[in-house]
Amino acid sequence: MIDEALRVFNELDSRDFRILTGIETGMKYFEWVPIEEINKYTRIPFEKLEYKLKKLVRNKLVVRTTQPYEGFQIYFEAYDALALNAFVKRKSISAIGDEIGVGKESVIYEAILPPELAIGEPVPVVIKFHREGRTSFKQIKRVRDHLGDREHFSWIYAARLAAQREYGIMTTLYPEVSMPKPFDHNRHAIVMELAKGSLLSKTRLLDPQWYLDEILKQIKITYSLGVIHADLSEYNVFVSEEGVQLIDWPQYITPEHPHADEILERDVSNILTHFFRKYGIKRELDETIREIKSQAGKNAEDRNEGGESRSGKGTVEELDLEETPEEGFEGDVFQEEDFEAQDFEAEEFEAEDFGAEKINIEDLDARDFKKAASKKDASGKG
Ligand SMILES: Nc1ncnc2c1ncn2[C@@H]1O[C@H](COP(=O)(O)OP(=O)(O)O)[C@@H](O)[C@H]1O
Ligand SMILES: [Mg+2]
Repeated sequence: MIDEALRVFNELDSRDFRILTGIETGMKYFEWVPIEEINKYTRIPFEKLEYKLKKLVRNKLVVRTTQPYEGFQIYFEAYDALALNAFVKRKSISAIGDEIGVGKESVIYEAILPPELAIGEPVPVVIKFHREGRTSFKQIKRVRDHLGDREHFSWIYAARLAAQREYGIMTTLYPEVSMPKPFDHNRHAIVMELAKGSLLSKTRLLDPQWYLDEILKQIKITYSLGVIHADLSEYNVFVSEEGVQLIDWPQYITPEHPHADEILERDVSNILTHFFRKYGIKRELDETIREIKSQAGKNAEDRNEGGESRSGKGTVEELDLEETPEEGFEGDVFQEEDFEAQDFEAEEFEAEDFGAEKINIEDLDARDFKKAASKKDASGKG
């Protein structure tokens, strides 16, 4: 798990990150990235490179094969470390805490966002590391022979695409739809605000009618913006005194989806069923759906009449799943230049900057994490 990545995070230097990025990049073209390619990418002399690779293998960030030739792949943990490093460098987080949630396809860590210009309060955030496409290495080895072209790269691709989709839709819908504020995205990971309150599934509400209406209101607003959540249930709704927040957005669809009606019905039905089972509240599904749809149409009209143009943020077009992510996963033929400087994200490797922003291993412990947070609060400078 990511604990492994966190444990060794402090020991990684800028060259380690360069090696990991080199292998990550190389995996677009090679199932197993040959050391020559890593050398070309990192420009680290062979002897040093071999020594460093050995250490990365020992720390379970990198896996080495000797068959059919010597080559390297990164593990999910290395991918975690690369995303974490990017966030730290961009000052999107200053400390990371405990694991606070594990979903079907993700693992969530508490973290701290430093205040802007070092004034104000540090913001409690979470990092959601996507885990789509995760296969155990054993499995990968077993099916290796059957893997087509680039399928060796599929776990990185799947997890990254999911994070991209989720971050994209969150930044589009926020703040109209109530959800944790999205802050940053890198690779398969998202930094977002800590959700308020607790999961609906784990809460006993004193005023369930009010909360049900609040959730339906959010579904309506979402629909009026041209989006259906598509994985809505008591497990993806946070409730607090302030209201509700919807989380977990990567599988959203638009009303143009061939099964949009069914999927919207399933979302609403999940919520109605929860409120019926737990609180005995009865609501007609068809009636509720009609209301969501009519209200949605009206909302759209209102917005148009109000002349409130939502250009660039308005209704959502379905992302093309085949579309290449921003760093360009495709490129049919491997070209040597691809490994050269342009792929190299200088921002992510400058060793000099890195030291100061390094995450302290003490911060990784939950209690120390809280201590660190309150210390920052107290000192008021974050
Ligand atoms: N912003 C957040 N604040 C607090 N907890 C969160 C947040 N996002 C996710 N979680 C926790 O992590 C769990 C998994 O996250 P979720 O986004 O639902 O991913 P999955 O697709 O794996 O279900 C949630 O059920 C919740 O307990
Ligand atoms: Mg979930």
